[in-house]
Amino acid sequence: KLRVGLVGWRGMVGSVLMQRMQAEGDFARIESRFFSTSNAGGAAPDFAAGGTLADAHDIARLGEMDAIVTCQGGDYTSAVYPQLRAAGWAGHWIDAASTLRMSDEAVIVLDPVNREVIDARLAAGGRTWIGGNCTVSLMLMALGGLFRAGLVEWMSAMTYQAASGAGAQNMRELLAQMGALHDGVAAELADPDSAILDIDAKVSAMMRSSAFPAEHFGVPLAGSLIPWIDKQLDNGQSREEWKGQAETNKILGAGRIVPIDGFCVRIGSMRCHSQALTVKLTGNVPMSDIEGLIREANDWVRLIPNEREASMRELSPAAVSGRLEVPVGRLRKLNMGPQYLGAFTCGDQLLWGAAEPLRRMLNILVD
Ligand code: HSE
Repeated sequence: KLRVGLVGWRGMVGSVLMQRMQAEGDFARIESRFFSTSNAGGAAPDFAAGGTLADAHDIARLGEMDAIVTCQGGDYTSAVYPQLRAAGWAGHWIDAASTLRMSDEAVIVLDPVNREVIDARLAAGGRTWIGGNCTVSLMLMALGGLFRAGLVEWMSAMTYQAASGAGAQNMRELLAQMGALHDGVAAELADPDSAILDIDAKVSAMMRSSAFPAEHFGVPLAGSLIPWIDKQLDNGQSREEWKGQAETNKILGAGRIVPIDGFCVRIGSMRCHSQALTVKLTGNVPMSDIEGLIREANDWVRLIPNEREASMRELSPAAVSGRLEVPVGRLRKLNMGPQYLGAFTCGDQLLWGAAEPLRRMLNILVD
């Protein structure tokens, strides 16, 4: 059995990964060893083989592993990965952090979309497998069929990203903000005769007050939105927006670079990222062909008819949270012309957006 070291399994992405590995029986197929950055010598979790936690900075112990799966974050990757390789370790490194994503030695793994890229690199001795950015992975789970058919001349993605993408503390803060807003006007809300504009004025004042809980986001998200995600780049893009083109094209491994750009926006959903997509097709492709290509691309994409009732009910964070299916709908040709396709998709940012591609990569190694 493959000896697999697990690091960062207690955090949010790591916990989702552990849940998925248990649900799919992955632990029975590997010899697992749990590492910790803070609690070496403590008890390993009982859902696997048990034992004690090893030190996640112990290069010699890590080096005994055939594969290491880490959700510990970018700082850990930067500190440990170069040391391990420098020590001659030739095992498989599977990582959720973005640190190594664009390096030449790494493949961005999303096997329902780029299994051939993974297989080719495996055959060539590849050992470094990195999960993609969540919006990119979810977009490709939805529209991978069109990309793979070479039908995308360019694409614009406008995103509506959940609090979870910013971290567990941010999810808590979103709820604290929602609660603070409600608490501040609870009396007025209970009175059906109170004036809505008075309630609104009070809510706005609360959001702008320095007492409003915004330590993690820096600004209000509940009742508002944040039109910037990740760092500022010199070209006017946010780093999240930059990833769209860079990572999509790397995942697909194609020769021609497909231009992708748009705006990434944080909204008050919990763990599902949504995206409104504008695609310039390479030709006037009939809707029935487009639908067929999308539907048949993988086992998780789900086509939602472009109808009001179905869209409202099935194409939202409330409907999709905690599920592996990636619905895509609102599909229609746009006023700009028959080569312009509009689509809307929504997916769980912690599942296909983070944990699922990692456990599937591990299983590819096991098979
Ligand atoms: N950068 C993403 C976000 C997180 O902030 O929503 C996952 O890649």
